[in-house]
Amino acid sequence: MGPLTFFSQARLLIITGKGGVGKTTVSGVIANLAAGQGLRATVVQITAPGAQEEPEAAHLSRFFGQDEPVDYEGIVLLANSSGGEVTARAVRPDAALVEYLHLHGMRRLSRRLVASGALDVVATAVPGMPDMLVLGKLKQMERAAAAGQPDAADLIVLDAPAAGHAVRFLQSPYGLLDATSGGPIQAQAQEVVDMLGDPSRCQVLLVTTPEETPVSETIETAQLLEEKAGTKLGGVVVNGLLPVLALPPVIEPAELGRLAKAAGARLSPVELASLAAAGQLRLRRQESQAAQVARLAVELPLRQLELPFCFSSELGPYELGQLTDAFATAVEGLVPASP
Ligand SMILES: Nc1ncnc2c1ncn2[C@@H]1O[C@H](COP(=O)(O)OP(=O)(O)OP(=O)(O)O)[C@@H](O)[C@H]1O
Ligand SMILES: [Mg+2]
Repeated sequence: MGPLTFFSQARLLIITGKGGVGKTTVSGVIANLAAGQGLRATVVQITAPGAQEEPEAAHLSRFFGQDEPVDYEGIVLLANSSGGEVTARAVRPDAALVEYLHLHGMRRLSRRLVASGALDVVATAVPGMPDMLVLGKLKQMERAAAAGQPDAADLIVLDAPAAGHAVRFLQSPYGLLDATSGGPIQAQAQEVVDMLGDPSRCQVLLVTTPEETPVSETIETAQLLEEKAGTKLGGVVVNGLLPVLALPPVIEPAELGRLAKAAGARLSPVELASLAAAGQLRLRRQESQAAQVARLAVELPLRQLELPFCFSSELGPYELGQLTDAFATAVEGLVPASP
């Protein structure tokens, strides 16, 4: 399917997966692909209440070749001539609460909460409340997108917490629904639950690397998310795939020596032994990567989108371009779901 069809499936994409598998990277890639199609995409990152700054903030900015970290006001990471845009903003539960009170005619209360220093306490006092406040903010952004408000994004990409926390995060409105009877909290929780359960509004993309532990955790998280949060799983992004090299099943130092000599290079026995060991390691990684991708396909019947490993110490605009092209190719290979 084309990228525009892919993005028309849901306005809010929630990106989650085990720590360090590439959630922030994939969020940036998806937003960049959307901008290339003339869409306005916003990446949302979550900051803990009271934290000074989202530690990821700088990582996402650098990926787009920018220095300014992502903040609560939001920054523009990219704007192109076709009207496409990538913005990023951090959302904090306490700031989301102030905004909610403002929008619902409780300005004086919000001012008093801020002035008395009680804001943090109120925003975090009830279990599940910080997560619910963030989800409430996302729901408001999603509604603005649906209504086509002039300053609203077309696509919201949530760079969500790591898998274990993501399940708790997406379950929070259900807990608050059970714990309240009527009132604004219950109404808000119900609206968030409605959004999470509607695949035309919100879908989850899981990210994993092609390794045993992340794949196992992805399978587990997928089951938990479907059972406990009722969100549609839109696919799994397999990130960091090594290109497959045509290597012989056994790599002998002597054979490497002959090849080196034929190419005009002289390598010591120690160098040849190291090279052979590196080749064997690469071979094992290729085999294990293929086995994990196959296991994922069998145990998790979700469409897979593959992204290559970039051989670079830090990801910047060049790698962003490469990964975006790869993601576009993966999306092209998807077959639209039958109605
Ligand atoms: N395809 C890739 N090729 C090479 N390096 C990658 C790739 N994807 C991610 N990385 C690198 O791996 C590291 C982790 O990526 P990233 O920060 O996107 O993961 P994350 O899931 O958001 O991590 P966290 O759980 O800490 O938020 C980063 O240094 C990033 O540059
Ligand atoms: Mg991250």
